[in-house]
Amino acid sequence: MKRLLTLLAALALCASAYSQVPAPLELTPSEGTPNLTREISRKIGGKAFAKKTANLPAFAREQAYQLIVTPKGYKIEANTQQGYFYALQTLKQMQTCGTVYDYPRFQYRGFMMDISRHFRDKDFILKQLEALASLKINQFHMHLTDDAGWRIQIDKYPLLTRQAAWRVGETWQDWCDKGRQYSQEGAPEARGGYLTKADIREILDRAAQLHINVIPEIEMPGHSREVVFAYPEVGCREGSYELCPGKEATFELLEGILEEVIELFPSPYIHVGGDEADKSHWKECPDCQARMKAEGLANVEELQSYLIKRIERFINAHGRQLLGWDEILEGGLSPNATVMSWRGTQGGLEAIQQGHDAVMTPGRYCYLDKVQDAPIYEPEGFGGFLSLDVAHSYEPLEGMPEGAEMHLLGVQGNLWAERIPTDEHYEYMMYPRIAAIAEVGWSQPSRKEGFRPRVTRWNDALIAAGYHAFDLHKEYGERPAFKNGIRHKAVGKKVTYNHLWNRGYPAAREATFTDGLGGGWSYGDGRWQGFLSDIDVVIDLETEQDIHFVGGTFMEEPGPGIFLPKSVEIWLSADGENFEQVAVIPNEIQKHGQSYVLFGTPLTARARFVRFVAHPTRGFHFLDEIVVN
Ligand code: ACM
Ligand code: ZN
Repeated sequence: MKRLLTLLAALALCASAYSQVPAPLELTPSEGTPNLTREISRKIGGKAFAKKTANLPAFAREQAYQLIVTPKGYKIEANTQQGYFYALQTLKQMQTCGTVYDYPRFQYRGFMMDISRHFRDKDFILKQLEALASLKINQFHMHLTDDAGWRIQIDKYPLLTRQAAWRVGETWQDWCDKGRQYSQEGAPEARGGYLTKADIREILDRAAQLHINVIPEIEMPGHSREVVFAYPEVGCREGSYELCPGKEATFELLEGILEEVIELFPSPYIHVGGDEADKSHWKECPDCQARMKAEGLANVEELQSYLIKRIERFINAHGRQLLGWDEILEGGLSPNATVMSWRGTQGGLEAIQQGHDAVMTPGRYCYLDKVQDAPIYEPEGFGGFLSLDVAHSYEPLEGMPEGAEMHLLGVQGNLWAERIPTDEHYEYMMYPRIAAIAEVGWSQPSRKEGFRPRVTRWNDALIAAGYHAFDLHKEYGERPAFKNGIRHKAVGKKVTYNHLWNRGYPAAREATFTDGLGGGWSYGDGRWQGFLSDIDVVIDLETEQDIHFVGGTFMEEPGPGIFLPKSVEIWLSADGENFEQVAVIPNEIQKHGQSYVLFGTPLTARARFVRFVAHPTRGFHFLDEIVVN
């Protein structure tokens, strides 16, 4: 009995010993009440620890630490100040005495903040750096420029801030609704702002103390409407909002901007965007056409690649590395570029296969602009659903070739701000999901267990410290139909399709509608079957039965073009040959938006065969289960 109690006590100690986010590599708990305030010893750059960590990759050696906490105080060993700093972050989360030996799985653990769509000021940024550092995040990527506002002082091109940092419209949505007009600094209607160089230096100073590298992103050649507004000579012609790679003026401006950016930011990486450029104007622009002819470029993708390669030469000549969104692979990747993979993981895979470095930030796991809880009960997001658990489940090396870890630098969470007007809402979207990304980047997969209680504790402390984090105690969670399944008469029964599903969204193929498994909040979770055509299926219940209800839930998510059906028809038959239409359910909802709507009807009938037909409104329609009772 005594041994059992000792064992239970030891287990309890182990379970609670791992209280940190991100989870450390090794933690051996010991007895006693920890003294977290008295430093007994500090060895930075000592021989013993250098020897212990000698076989680690260089980045891990630099970030490694050992922390011993006893009732008398704590002792830290590390090779660098950064390792020492990480030991202190772990110390703050220690609940027991014990010995921690720890280093990161990946060298790059990042967060991207969009301050273009809604401006966020220096103080807000400084506040977030503290929380990021506590998670051992070491890269802060600032999306400083985009259509909705230029946010960094550039002395050589003052109109970028004087005009293009100010707009008509408090929110991004207002600005879009009012025709995307810019304003002037000081004008009564002007909304926006920018970081001065002094602001940025303050951010950089604090970030350096927190061992966070700050990566500036200067978008090109797309998402550059504000630049073309301030300096029209770098656009193709009136009505074109991308930069013109045909004109020398474009390169002069970009290099002038980058020179000041490079002077300001010590970051080894300079991010140049590269995503989502609308290249259609380039096909008609005489300057672009002349450039393509002179350089022997076959298409507009190669023209973008020409621009990025030329900018890369400039950045490399200044001793820095070019980082860009995965579109920079199109038309040929620049020789030394690092790719940020956002449209899934394919871009990262291709970059790695080509011998380049990649940072993984696939939308499915890393886009924190998706809502984190039941979309119908949350503030409006930018479309889509990403729970804390799904973010935490990301495995960056999955699907990567052997040896990929040589080039897979790490992971990053991105928080775009189109739908996030306030600071409070920004924090709500950021926390606690960025903690999940931090753990994916730092912790070995075997150490990720027990995340819920650990992150809840971390998040509660964050809320207590004045951050407006999402409260995990109030999480609604996945759709009940997804979590619990759906009981009904047709489960396991055969379904015959008169039209097949769309190839991209097969879900569980013929089993989808009668597998008793409901879809979640996300159309891409493998439970929702997608169609561009009619849905027209027949379920065979095997015997004639009383039927009192038939229906199915459709989801709408306008962003990716998924809409509720125009109408649903229910037909019944005793023999599978002669069907009688028993209900037509029209879609009478006037507005579009993310929603989950049951198209069903009570019935008083007997039948063996149920035919379920749905006509699309436009684009896709998605259905998870046909419920028969
Ligand atoms: C991106 O989300 N357009 C990189
Ligand atoms: Zn052009």
